[in-house]
Amino acid sequence: MTDQRLVLVSLTGLDDDHLAELFATADDLGATVACLQGGGPSLVGVLDTIAAEAAGTSVRLVAAARTTSHTGRSWLGRVAGHWVRTRGLLQVEVAGALARGFGLIEVRAACSAPARLVTGGEAPLESPAWEEAPPYRHHVLVCRGPRCNAKGAEETSAALTDELTRREMVDRDVLVALTGCLYPCNGAPVIVCHPGDRWYRQVTADEARRIVEDDLLGD
Ligand code: FES
Repeated sequence: MTDQRLVLVSLTGLDDDHLAELFATADDLGATVACLQGGGPSLVGVLDTIAAEAAGTSVRLVAAARTTSHTGRSWLGRVAGHWVRTRGLLQVEVAGALARGFGLIEVRAACSAPARLVTGGEAPLESPAWEEAPPYRHHVLVCRGPRCNAKGAEETSAALTDELTRREMVDRDVLVALTGCLYPCNGAPVIVCHPGDRWYRQVTADEARRIVEDDLLGD
């Protein structure tokens, strides 16, 4: 019977502060951790390492997210499909359930779900729609580093995105990028608006909505 490796894949870059819990769960299960985005080991890097160490083995990917996944599990299939298409060294499958948390109970439940084989025929990483940068007028960096996260950046970020979405400004007028530490941590949570290099500190959810109204809405 073919040896099977288990890889727990964190789906969102918003969960970086809690990855230690996923690593602990992986230790208990004899699994490996990979990250679809944000910090931590990349999925392609983890699959490359397994292929180098144990050719002929199979891999089961189990998606996990503590926070809402804006990326969606479809990206896991795309990235895994890209790896199978370009390397083709291992049999890879994706568990059909999402672990809604990084703890042993949530991950175990997802591990036991039926899996589907990654064939390499999954949607690609490229699309004509992603050729050009969108014609946005503002680029907003939202710090999700450890100090900002500890002081409410999750609520700030959600309020900003909700307000931009409500005004139909996301991506077209305003491109929002979540970042790691931007350095003036004493002002956490921090937001920067470009062009113009406008820094905002101690940005509460209400303040984020006000920035949309007063700063981003005009020219
Ligand atoms: S953690 Fe946000 S500026 Fe340092």
